[in-house]
Amino acid sequence: AAPGPLSGRHALVTSGPTHEPIDPVRYIANRSSGHQGHAIAGALARLGARVTLVSGPTALADPPGTTVVRVTTAREMLAACQQALPADIAVCAAAVADWTVTHPATHKTKKAAGAPPPVLALSPNPDILANLAAAGPQRPALVVGFAAETEEVVAQASAKRLRKGCDWIIANDVSEAGNGGRGTVFASPDNTVHVITAEGVEDWPTLSKDVVAHRLAGRIAATLTDRAAA
Ligand code: PMT
Repeated sequence: AAPGPLSGRHALVTSGPTHEPIDPVRYIANRSSGHQGHAIAGALARLGARVTLVSGPTALADPPGTTVVRVTTAREMLAACQQALPADIAVCAAAVADWTVTHPATHKTKKAAGAPPPVLALSPNPDILANLAAAGPQRPALVVGFAAETEEVVAQASAKRLRKGCDWIIANDVSEAGNGGRGTVFASPDNTVHVITAEGVEDWPTLSKDVVAHRLAGRIAATLTDRAAA
């Protein structure tokens, strides 16, 4: 990595959706493109960090200067993150599926004439962010989560920060109207975020995801530099 304020630090970043298989041809997924998480991985690398980017399926190129581990499911994402530890920084921008299909079919599920549609039984997925925040001696010094909300964005995200045990949570409103009129965050190059820490809430203006990433990486570097000086 290029020398910079994060030289000598290892950053673990998650990005993109996860796909939870139903059968060999179908899966449950969500609308994350990976743009925000990949931009953060690239921004941390530009500040000198060694970056491991654990990514669900996306159409994006690997950000320069990062090591990319590609996964499909939430369970694979958790295993890849645990394998990447120790890390100084964790940023969980992935939109991890909360549930997985309990018994994915080995063969393509067929439509039988007159038969009712299949009913999918779901089981909870592990929470990767909460796992990293509770990793004991392996816990990264700074654990940053994201919160995708559609109502009471800051209140819901603040509660999520405490529940998941992360240091900061970056809240974004993923409703149609919630991105400063730019359209849903998933399909947009822009994002409108609130940075929630133990000290309070910063409302950032609508910015490109690349600028959000650059600012967030700068804030992370400044915080770790301040802590090292204290
Ligand atoms: O990828 P883009 O199209 O650029 O869109 C960016 C984004 C909207 C996906 C991103 O900015 C974002 O908000 N990511 C988090 C999406 C999400 O799943 O939010 P959540 O509120 O459901 O989860 C809260 C936090 O827990 C997140 O840090 C998430 O990564 C983490 N989580 C959630 C569930 C789970 N099983 N494991 C997790 O680690």
